[in-house]
Amino acid sequence: MKLTVYDNAEQACISVAFKLAKLAEMGGSVALSGGSTPKLLFKIMAEKFRKADWNKLYFFWGDERLVPAESRQSNYGEFYRELIKPGIITGERVFPTDYIQDSTIALENIENKIKRYIPYHSGFPRFDLIILGIGEDGHIASIFPNNLKSFESKKVVELAYHPVNQQERITLTGSTINNALEIIFLCTGDGKKEIIYDIIENNNSNLPATHVAPQREIEWCIDKLAAQNLIHV
Ligand code: 6PG
Repeated sequence: MKLTVYDNAEQACISVAFKLAKLAEMGGSVALSGGSTPKLLFKIMAEKFRKADWNKLYFFWGDERLVPAESRQSNYGEFYRELIKPGIITGERVFPTDYIQDSTIALENIENKIKRYIPYHSGFPRFDLIILGIGEDGHIASIFPNNLKSFESKKVVELAYHPVNQQERITLTGSTINNALEIIFLCTGDGKKEIIYDIIENNNSNLPATHVAPQREIEWCIDKLAAQNLIHV
């Protein structure tokens, strides 16, 4: 495990954007995290890495809320507004989860897209990189601490429901997450200091992040605020 503590969220996102730009040069594949943290990452990709080979990179998401892309809740929606709409990325290799009322069809559609563009190894799609955020409750993608069975699922993707608002989502399973070559945890902000401590120092097995074990390397890209409770850094 490689852990880097950056002065601030911007520096953490610049580091991740640089890694994505290198992966783009190789025509690799990535599953992006959702939530609010990637909004800064997308802004940095647009402003500081505008000329990277983004159109060579295969973009998927680790999870998506089943809402229209226009919704501020959509993980893809933010990427579209920051990178596709301004014409920085054309979108031919960007594969959002399509919003369809019938979630089982949406699930089938995204699994078919993954099957078509992501090579399989050991029976599962192998992303070159999966970026994961961490919720304050310790969830990753849309795998929540009270539902580790969707981490252990032998499917590629699963339907999931936010435990508080029951929002319907689609998530990569732990089988797919752990089949990735590399995982980056991108986690910033004061609000994450407790959960980061519980994962990294306590190795609390109730938390899905402690079960993440990719084929090659886990890298933690966190800022000083998220790292402030850590003792061994
Ligand atoms: C989602 C996510 C989720 C997110 C974490 C962190 O769709 O909600 O993919 O796993 O990465 O909740 O979210 P923030 O970046 O908003 O803290």
